[in-house]
Amino acid sequence: MPKHFISIWDLSSDEAHALLARALEMKRTRHRGTILDGKVAAMIFEKASTRTRMSFETAVYHLGGHPIFMTPRESQLGRSEPLKDTARVLSRYNDCLIMRTFGQEKLDVFMQYGSIPVINALTDEGHPCQVMSDMLTVYERTPDLRSLKIAWIGDGNNMANSWMEAALYFGFELALACPQGDEPCKTLMERAGKGGARIVLTRDPKEAARNADYVNTDVWASMGQEEEQKKREQAFAGYCVDAALMSLAKPDARFMHCLPAHRGEEVSEEVLEGPQSIVFDEAENRLHMQKAILEWVFS
Ligand code: CP
Ligand code: NVA
Repeated sequence: MPKHFISIWDLSSDEAHALLARALEMKRTRHRGTILDGKVAAMIFEKASTRTRMSFETAVYHLGGHPIFMTPRESQLGRSEPLKDTARVLSRYNDCLIMRTFGQEKLDVFMQYGSIPVINALTDEGHPCQVMSDMLTVYERTPDLRSLKIAWIGDGNNMANSWMEAALYFGFELALACPQGDEPCKTLMERAGKGGARIVLTRDPKEAARNADYVNTDVWASMGQEEEQKKREQAFAGYCVDAALMSLAKPDARFMHCLPAHRGEEVSEEVLEGPQSIVFDEAENRLHMQKAILEWVFS
């Protein structure tokens, strides 16, 4: 059976902790390896990407493999060839699929019909590779993860969902402030809560940010929701992470954002470019965490 990485919960809790340590070691040693020697990673991206594409392609090269990038636009996927056919074809050429798409059910189709590992490079439901990199960014500063309060301000989107999975495994308090109707996945929150995760959901960004060690946000309209931009700007008024909101967090709190950011919407220019911001460390850590994830998939 191929090993898939669709959500953080595809790892065991021990494996998730081990991945942080391994990615940190790979970062420190500027790891180059051979685990993907002779292997080809297919990458199907149905949405735009800078960080995820570049860090995965680079990671695959650094591990001795070769990536092949494809979008629907220049392939038969854009001319309605079913994914279940594509899954069977690629499984005969390639050694894994790294896929960015809309509904998570597309990954299910690929897993059902294909025979190679599938890695979730972002869906509408989750962004596990990003949140594992973000955990690395937190861990390298504050290894005692259980002692932390991490705030999520804004949309209860794919990122927020993956943060809830992380909260279960890593034991920090996750305080989410989301407007009504834009909350993260209820089922996931319940599962995490039943497992012992410390997750609090509020409408008040101030309550979430108060005394936080890390303050996190993301765009108000994710990819695929562009036509809702105006409506969302209204719904999220008051959810901008600005200097006033950051002043409620701990004095040494850090600001996080997976990028790309919309300055003046979910975050002020001052906070994004200010001394508390660690957004480019997060972006760098994508590379190191992708290597650790690829190593896990192929070992
Ligand atoms: N954070 C992130 O996934 O960025 P990209 O959309 O550029 O890949
Ligand atoms: N929530 C954002 C994350 C982008 C990396 C989106 O899905 O567009």
